[in-house]
Amino acid sequence: MEPQEILGALMRPPGRDDPYPLYAAARQLGPLFAIPEFNLHVCTGFELINGVLRSPDFGKYEFEYLPQEVIDQYVEGGSVHTISSSILDANPPDHRRVRSLISSAFTPRRIAGLAPAITRVAGELFDEFERLGAQGDPVDFMEYFAFRFPVTVICELLGIPEQDRVRFRPLAHDLTVALELIDDLTKLAPADAAAAELRAYFEKLSEQRRAQPEDDLISALVQVNDADDGRLSDGELIANLTLLLVAGFETTTNLLGNGLELALKHPHVAEGVRKGEIPVAAFVEEVLRFDSPVQLTSRTALTDGAKVGGKEVKRGEQVMLLMGAAHRDPARFTDPDTFDPLRPDNTSLSFGGGIHYCLGQGLARLEAQIAFAQLFERFPEIRLAAEPTRSDRLVLRGYETLEVVLQGAA
Ligand code: HEM
Repeated sequence: MEPQEILGALMRPPGRDDPYPLYAAARQLGPLFAIPEFNLHVCTGFELINGVLRSPDFGKYEFEYLPQEVIDQYVEGGSVHTISSSILDANPPDHRRVRSLISSAFTPRRIAGLAPAITRVAGELFDEFERLGAQGDPVDFMEYFAFRFPVTVICELLGIPEQDRVRFRPLAHDLTVALELIDDLTKLAPADAAAAELRAYFEKLSEQRRAQPEDDLISALVQVNDADDGRLSDGELIANLTLLLVAGFETTTNLLGNGLELALKHPHVAEGVRKGEIPVAAFVEEVLRFDSPVQLTSRTALTDGAKVGGKEVKRGEQVMLLMGAAHRDPARFTDPDTFDPLRPDNTSLSFGGGIHYCLGQGLARLEAQIAFAQLFERFPEIRLAAEPTRSDRLVLRGYETLEVVLQGAA
C-alpha cells in the first residue's frame, strides 16, 4: 500500500476498528517513511519512536507553524485552544514550569492515599453491575463500569462535587474529539461547546475553593495559581484542570474495556490472575502494550537538523508516532501479535516518554489493577453477550459497547 492510502484507511472504518493489519503494512514501508504532500513523517519502529519522544530537538506543534487563516478557524477559547494551553501541548520552558507545579500537587502520596477510595468505588460499581446482571440479563460493561469508574475517581481527586459529576462524562467524551486526527473542522463543534462549559465550570469552582480551600487537587492548584510570583496563570489553571479531567478519564475507560475484551478472548488469563499465577499488574501491562488506549501522538522538529534514524526532518515538519504499531514491532517484542501477560521486559510506550510522560500513569495503573482484580474474582463466569462495538476514534482506542453476561451456562 502507498503511505497516503494507509493513513486514509486508518482514519475510516474498518481500518480504524482494526488498525493492526494497516500498521503491519506501514512497517513494510520501514520504521520511518515520509508523506511529502502533508509535510509529514510517520514512525512505526519502537526504538525510533522512543528516541523522538526523548529528543529535545522535537516538541509539540506550535501555532506559529500554522498559517494565520488556519489559526483563525479554531474557536477562541474552544477545544483546540484549551488543549494547546495545557502542558500536554506546551514546550520548554513553559512546560517545565507548569508541569513541576502540577506534579507538586499531584504527588505519589496523594495517589497512593486514594487506593482505599478507589477500591470502595470499584466495589460499589460492581455491586450495581451485579444487580443489573443478576437475572442473566446482558449488562454493558462500558456503560455501567468502564465509563463510571475513572470519572468518579478523577472527580474525587480533583474535588468535584458528586452532583456535578454526571455532566462530566458527556463533556469529556465530546472534548476528546479534539485529540483525534480531524479532516473536517465542523466536527469540532461539540468539542468547542464542551470546552466552553468546562471553562465556565472550573472558573466558578476555583473561585469557591479560593474562598474555602479543601483537601483536593483543585484547591492545591488554586494555591499555586495564587502564589505571589504568579507562577500559574488563570488560563493555565483552567486549561490544565480541563486536561486532567479528560486525560484521566477516557484513556482509563478504554484500558478497562480493551482489557476485559482481551480477558474474555483468553479465559485462561483471567483464571491465571484469579489463581495468583499471573500478577494483575502484568496483565494490565500486556493490555497496555497489546491494545493501547492511546494509539499515536505527534512531534514537530523544533530546530533545523533534527534527525530520526539518521534522516533529517526540517524545522516545523511533523512526525507521527504510531505507538500502536511500535507495540507490535518484532524488533522489540518476540511474537508481538500474541497476547502474553507473562512476557519478559514488557515496557511499552503506552504512556509516552520523555518530558511529556503521562502524569497520571500511576493512577491509571492503580485503577486498572484494582478493577481487574475485583472483576476476575467476583465474576469468574463472565462472558460476551454480543459482539462488542468499537468507538468512532483512532487516537483514543476503545469500545463503545461491551455487553456481557455475568453468570450461568452459555
Ligand atoms: C500525557 C496516556 C491516564 C494525565 C499522556 C501521554 C500519553 C498518555 C501517551 C503523552 C502524550 C504525548 O506525549 O503526546 C495515558 C493512558 C492512560 C492515561 C494510556 C490510561 C490508561 C491518565 C490519567 C491522568 C493523565 C489517569 C490524570 C489523572 C496526563 C497528563 C499528561 C498525560 C496531565 C500530560 C503530561 C505532559 O504533557 O507533561 N498520557 N494517560 N493520564 N497524561 Fe495520561
